[in-house]
Amino acid sequence: MSASAFLREFARNWKTVGAIAPSSPALAEKMMVASGAAHARHILELGPGTGAFTEAIARVMPDNADYLGLELNEAFVHRLHAQFPGMRFECCCAQKFDLKQPAFREGFDAIISGLPWTAFPEELQKAILGNVLPHLAPGGRFVTFAYYGFHKLPAGQHFRDLLGTLLPNVTTTEVVWANLPPAFVYVGSNEPLTSEDIESDD
Ligand SMILES: C[S@@+](CC[C@H](N)C(=O)[O-])C[C@H]1O[C@@H](n2cnc3c(N)ncnc32)[C@H](O)[C@@H]1O
Repeated sequence: MSASAFLREFARNWKTVGAIAPSSPALAEKMMVASGAAHARHILELGPGTGAFTEAIARVMPDNADYLGLELNEAFVHRLHAQFPGMRFECCCAQKFDLKQPAFREGFDAIISGLPWTAFPEELQKAILGNVLPHLAPGGRFVTFAYYGFHKLPAGQHFRDLLGTLLPNVTTTEVVWANLPPAFVYVGSNEPLTSEDIESDD
């Protein structure tokens, strides 16, 4: 999707789109390494939007891996189906989708979020995280990005604190300057993480 089409959706649905431009390939790459998507068997993406991360996931995920993308914007879902015909997208709210179905019983090794957390009220943040995080597989990783500088604002700090109460291990990557605005990645797991884990693809 072009930047102008993204901007059009932002103008129509600014509360849920929450960004003025799609994430850059450099940020997508950082998200892939931090999430371990290249070694994941089950992958969940929240808010794929225009597919900035989806494209990277499609490139790195193993052939036998499965993918589920939850996106509430119908126009985006329509385009995602056309752009990634082999991948599963559901047009729904991430806080409502039933992940207790047998198909997801093994949990997700990588949960990759493009959601604009700081634009959401706390109840919605809790509802989404409460719906997805119990389905993180043992040793799985939850990744999401934050704009550098904005993370120091009260809403940004509050989100980080919330994440820390829900996952025992939360850390951050280096800043990706080649993104508008520059951003870094929060990585959370139910098992300990090392900086090598999240910054290197080996
Ligand atoms: C900032 S855009 C991210 C798009 C893309 N991942 C990227 O980084 O460029 C956020 C996306 O999350 C979607 N979204 C917002 N709230 C959602 C919710 N509760 N459930 C699922 N998707 C949601 C929006 O429609 C939008 O497409």
